[in-house]
Amino acid sequence: MTRHFLRDDDLSPVEQAEVLALAKALKSARHQARPFEGPRAVAIIFDKPTLRTQASFTAGVAELGGYPMLVDGSLARIGVRESVADSARVLGRMVSAVVWRTYGQERIDEMAAYAGVPVVNALTDRFHPCQLLADLQTIEEHKGTLAGLTVAFLGDAASNMSHSFLLACATAGMHVRVSGPDGFGPDADVLATAERIAGETAGSASYVVDPVAAVTDADVVVTDTWVSMGTEGEAEERSRPFLPYAVDTPLLGHAKADAIVMHCLPAYRGKEIAADVIDGPQSVVWDEAENRLHAQKALLAWLMEHQT
Ligand code: NVA
Repeated sequence: MTRHFLRDDDLSPVEQAEVLALAKALKSARHQARPFEGPRAVAIIFDKPTLRTQASFTAGVAELGGYPMLVDGSLARIGVRESVADSARVLGRMVSAVVWRTYGQERIDEMAAYAGVPVVNALTDRFHPCQLLADLQTIEEHKGTLAGLTVAFLGDAASNMSHSFLLACATAGMHVRVSGPDGFGPDADVLATAERIAGETAGSASYVVDPVAAVTDADVVVTDTWVSMGTEGEAEERSRPFLPYAVDTPLLGHAKADAIVMHCLPAYRGKEIAADVIDGPQSVVWDEAENRLHAQKALLAWLMEHQT
């Protein structure tokens, strides 16, 4: 069976812990895993803008002994110039894995159905699961544990980041609260899945409209842009309802005194996060960005080991 990572709950709690342990090991010995020795190629495709994801996957595949094959999404025009299925069949004959950032989740599901090699979601409209592996690694580094901690995500609770926080933190046995204005709550299916997983891991998952209630006594406070890639046309109408969810010093004051602050970046200072918070002592955003490299390398190495 070919294993893929299309959404956070594609890894069971035990498997997620294995990937995070490997990420920690690879952070201290960067070249100890060589699954793409040869070099074998990994296709890395972007249909949306990128900095961290392109940098971390290209460096990561190289450090894993492989060849990072950047396929220009604007030239390939997957699903327009040729179908997702045909693109998948071609790529699967040439590369050992496919990493893809795109729009609809159904596109990456179709890629996985036809590629015949592991497919990794490098962000869709619905999920950003690689970011969450890095985020969990960062939380564990700073807090020493995951299970039992409380995470508050503030902002667009209908976004890919909110959805991934729900699934990944539930899988890790954490208490995850996503908080955003009415009309910007999480997808009901994703929330229900997170609640079910949390029931098995002794965690919890909830949507909390009140930002103060969401942040109160949290160990980790997270936000993300209010205007995700693909929603730029709604920037104006999105600014006002989100104002109470801005992570500033007064709001952060409701969290635990030793709470850490995270942001997947790019950040808009003065919008979803105050400059003195993201640049302040509780912020761990640069560790978080670095951990994209280690967590994704661990994921790729784990996926290559778990093909049957
Ligand atoms: N929610 C953001 C995440 C960026 C890494 C977006 O989709 O644009």
